[in-house]
Amino acid sequence: MCGIVGAVAERNVTAILLEGLKRLEYRGYDSAGVALFSNAGVLERRRRVGKVNELEQSLAGDPLAGRLGIAHVRWATHGAPTEQNAHPHFSNGELAVVHNGIIENHESLRERLQGLGYVFTSDTDTEVIAHLLHHKLRDIPDLAAALKATVKELHGAYGLAVISAKQPDRLVAARSGSPLVVGLGLGENFLASDQLALRQVTDRFMYLEEGDIAEIRRDSVQIWTAAGLPVEREVVQYREGAEAADKGEFRHFMLKEIHEQPKVVQRTLEGRLGQEQVLVQAFGPQAAELFAKVRNVQIVACGTSYHAGMVARYWLEGLAGIPCQVEVASEFRYRKVVVQPDTLFVSISQSGETADTLAALRNAKLRSPKEGGFLASLAICNVGISSLVRESDLTLLTQAGPEIGVASTKAFTTQLVALMLLTLSVGQVQGSLEPGVEAELVEELRRLPTRLGEALAMDSTVEKVAELFAEKSHTLFLGRGAQFPVAMEGALKLKEISYIHAEAYPAGELKHGPLALVDSDMPVVTVAPNNELLEKLKSNLQEVRARGGELIVFADEQAGLNDGTGTHVISMPHIVDALAPILYTIPLQLLSYYVAVLKGTDVDQPRNLAKSVTVE
Ligand code: F6R
Repeated sequence: MCGIVGAVAERNVTAILLEGLKRLEYRGYDSAGVALFSNAGVLERRRRVGKVNELEQSLAGDPLAGRLGIAHVRWATHGAPTEQNAHPHFSNGELAVVHNGIIENHESLRERLQGLGYVFTSDTDTEVIAHLLHHKLRDIPDLAAALKATVKELHGAYGLAVISAKQPDRLVAARSGSPLVVGLGLGENFLASDQLALRQVTDRFMYLEEGDIAEIRRDSVQIWTAAGLPVEREVVQYREGAEAADKGEFRHFMLKEIHEQPKVVQRTLEGRLGQEQVLVQAFGPQAAELFAKVRNVQIVACGTSYHAGMVARYWLEGLAGIPCQVEVASEFRYRKVVVQPDTLFVSISQSGETADTLAALRNAKLRSPKEGGFLASLAICNVGISSLVRESDLTLLTQAGPEIGVASTKAFTTQLVALMLLTLSVGQVQGSLEPGVEAELVEELRRLPTRLGEALAMDSTVEKVAELFAEKSHTLFLGRGAQFPVAMEGALKLKEISYIHAEAYPAGELKHGPLALVDSDMPVVTVAPNNELLEKLKSNLQEVRARGGELIVFADEQAGLNDGTGTHVISMPHIVDALAPILYTIPLQLLSYYVAVLKGTDVDQPRNLAKSVTVE
């Protein structure tokens, strides 16, 4: 998704801006650009379709230099990914604007500004901001004050940064629905949509809050709230994650992140397990009192995070006896929802900035419990400073560390761990768990990082299996019970990074339609832990073999499944059934990774996708 970098300094900032853009590449984008207030006293810009590399090469051949600048990577929403539509956008050569998000009323603003004589050179919604601000500056000469007046007329989501040739000692910024962070240097200051972009220049940050306007000069930062009142934002020292932007010994971030899972699962459990119990206060001081009241759970999330929620439904109902509904946020947010009394709203998100998930949370909070609303909101999230965390009543942070690969891996398994902690906490407080279950699962959770390490040791076996897929165009993924969402996640991973069409079904549904697709060209991937559904699953696998379908089965070492013609069984370490969804995710991640490598796709930045989907 789009990314912003800005800098005001006494030195040339071009290299800082380019390095910042490179650090944002993981978010997915299709063009890049930079604008500088040049030493000749004018605004100059360079934009390129494609990767930041191309912009860099162009600047190497024909340099731009300046001590004030803004830069952007764009993921097209309004208007095709062309050079004309790439940011920064100019107004009358005087202003340059970069913007993340969507301006919903851009059409009416465009008409009005065209009526005022402004000429548009792009199809973007962003260009209206540049011209509207230019228009405001006629009556309000100060740049920050004019920006305050401008954003009052914008509907939608934005994180934006502006520089002006007439006030070249500052850059101004505004945040509403799209994150921005100010980076503090010595005699120089910076701005970005993600602090990762500025890690090479500073480790001190100020996070803008919803509605904030900022004026950033070399030696000062001034911030105003949406109401126009001056405000101080806390300065936060950033320590963790310095290594995250580095692939280390791995060929791709995705592979590195897959292999980090034992470590980050361990971290997610740290301080949250007692001798034989989960420490409920990990969810916050008021959690125990709140969990005692919970009669239902509503989970809302998108993509991979939604799959984590689907697994949690099996756990919350099966282990804690709490009714649970799970829905994708883009549907939930627009539905008239009937809320059962005492329902806990749980959002799951790696980034905590996903537009649909945030909107769903905001809608959920509109009504109090007395007015038929939710009891409280809980965010399971990987980013402590995200909007989702700030706006939820309770939080449990997954400790996955920054995830750079667009395809989510370690975020998913740590979400599952967090959701298991939630299940056990609610069950514990309500006394609804079967005797001994909590102590057993706490013990098994402690062993989980080791188990994940064992599954990762299958790396080269899975790499071999991947060869079966290199020439295929379609695949089916099957699972039963809590393994069905695992199959869905496996299919999502494969389609995302290898572009092979992959569908997931609960294995019992096969004969109700999808079996018609099965032939020797359709590999069928199955996850088969040793549980009470194993025998049923084996019958489903027979149905596939009888139609000539090739089976790839990740099966418990005690499942009694063996290799045979057209059947490839990969033995998995035994694990207690409740935690099997976490373990069985690993070989499916590795499988999609190695298939993508064989197909030569862009593993870390698959086409058309973005890391953090901050637009609708
Ligand atoms: C898939 C993937 C996406 C995200 C989804 C939600 O690999 O990463 O499906 O899971 O965009 O993102 P978050 O979890 O940041 O809300």
